[in-house]
Amino acid sequence: MDSVKNDVVSYPAYLAGQWQMSSSHETIAIQSPWQHKVLGNVQAVTQPEVDQSIQAAKKAQHKWAALSLGERGQYLNQWARELEKDKAEIATTIMDEVGKNYADAEKEVTRTIDLIRYTVQEALHMHGESVRGDGFPGGSKEKLGIIERVPLGVVLAISPFNYPVNLSASKIAPALMAGNGVIFKPATQGAISGIKMIQALDRTGLPKGILSLITGHGSQIGDYLTEHPGINMISFTGSTQTGKHLSQKSIMIPLVLELGGKDPAIVCQDADLDLTAKNIIGGAFAYSGQRCTAVKRVLVDDRVADQLVAKLKQAIETLSVGSPADNSTVVPLIDDKSADFVQGLIDDALDKGATLVTGNRRKENLMAPTLLDNVTQNMDIAWVEPFGPVLPIIRVHSVDEAVKIANKSNFGLQASVFTQDIDKALEIAGAVEVGTVQVNGRPQRGPDNFPFLGVKASGMGTQGVHNSILSMSREKLTVINLK
Ligand code: G3P
Repeated sequence: MDSVKNDVVSYPAYLAGQWQMSSSHETIAIQSPWQHKVLGNVQAVTQPEVDQSIQAAKKAQHKWAALSLGERGQYLNQWARELEKDKAEIATTIMDEVGKNYADAEKEVTRTIDLIRYTVQEALHMHGESVRGDGFPGGSKEKLGIIERVPLGVVLAISPFNYPVNLSASKIAPALMAGNGVIFKPATQGAISGIKMIQALDRTGLPKGILSLITGHGSQIGDYLTEHPGINMISFTGSTQTGKHLSQKSIMIPLVLELGGKDPAIVCQDADLDLTAKNIIGGAFAYSGQRCTAVKRVLVDDRVADQLVAKLKQAIETLSVGSPADNSTVVPLIDDKSADFVQGLIDDALDKGATLVTGNRRKENLMAPTLLDNVTQNMDIAWVEPFGPVLPIIRVHSVDEAVKIANKSNFGLQASVFTQDIDKALEIAGAVEVGTVQVNGRPQRGPDNFPFLGVKASGMGTQGVHNSILSMSREKLTVINLK
């Protein structure tokens, strides 16, 4: 299937149920962010190959949707079993390709297996509704509406580099269970992990054509896919910039967008500071902060700020920094450009008078975890998402001020509130404009049966297993006119 030249593997795309090299004869090299070598090449798929894949998905989708939920679920459960068998190999690929430490990469595969199994169960237990017409003035009991959920057609699933397996399966599994065909476009950096998970799916005997995996240059197939009349729904996780572009390009089809964040940790005077520091550290620095739900700013009551900063400093200085193969918490960023961007934010803050508490060292794309105190609103780091291991502390004088700054952000993914006063927690939770508020805990997407959503520039629509199945299907009403 794969071809090897000069020790570098060329991975085929999975087009209309066949593993194929593209007719473009062009490939894209995937560079490891920490081994600094080419891991393999993926195909630069052409527009006619996109057309063939979408046509094949359309054709296969009717038969697929005609299968019972139980039958569709059998393929997915088998996929989960195949992923179990490949767990170590896929975890190693994630580690090599996106630089996630091995333990977290393995957890990502386990979480994915659990998510697939849960998605099958959830779909099996979802059901439609019925309604009688007499609830509306002038309506009659003789009208019986049967409301079922039907698939949308072909779903375009576009996943990001930071969870190349989990955030792909969290789109593919609900799309398939809802009876759709799928065009899967993994992030280029993350495509080899995506290919390996689809090799496992292919081994289940999945009907040919129902899913294609397309890799390629965004400039050649990005807009082409998004604007393609054969696509009936798009589920995208990635940057706000790309999400906005997608929403301008896609025409009259449902979109679910999960984009960037600038999640604040609001720390009140009465917070348990040990618990707070532990959550902030895990939230901000796991996988070097390359998570949309990372803690990206701390809004702390001035009266406890010195104590909190001291605890954070101490904890940061014990974080392991280095190779993903050594299970380091802070690992090299996805590429040099990302590290340059983070460095620019740190430099801007320091130029404008922020206090460097610890960090600001760098070796290529490996950046030491950095804590900046006395960050003010004129600094870019107060507003911009770094996607890297830097945490700004903004000192505030009141809860109102914290909420005001929290809400001034363009983003609205999650927020954490640290306080021992549940009334205060609920008051703040009610006031912050975000998808989720975590009380005394760090922002996070999971558990995956929870709804996951962002507002403002953080996204549109809701994910989580149940909501993803809903967003990838629609209601269909059949009215029986009795008598
Ligand atoms: O896209 C969401 C991802 O970046 C964060 O997921 O599970 O780390 O909160 P999680």
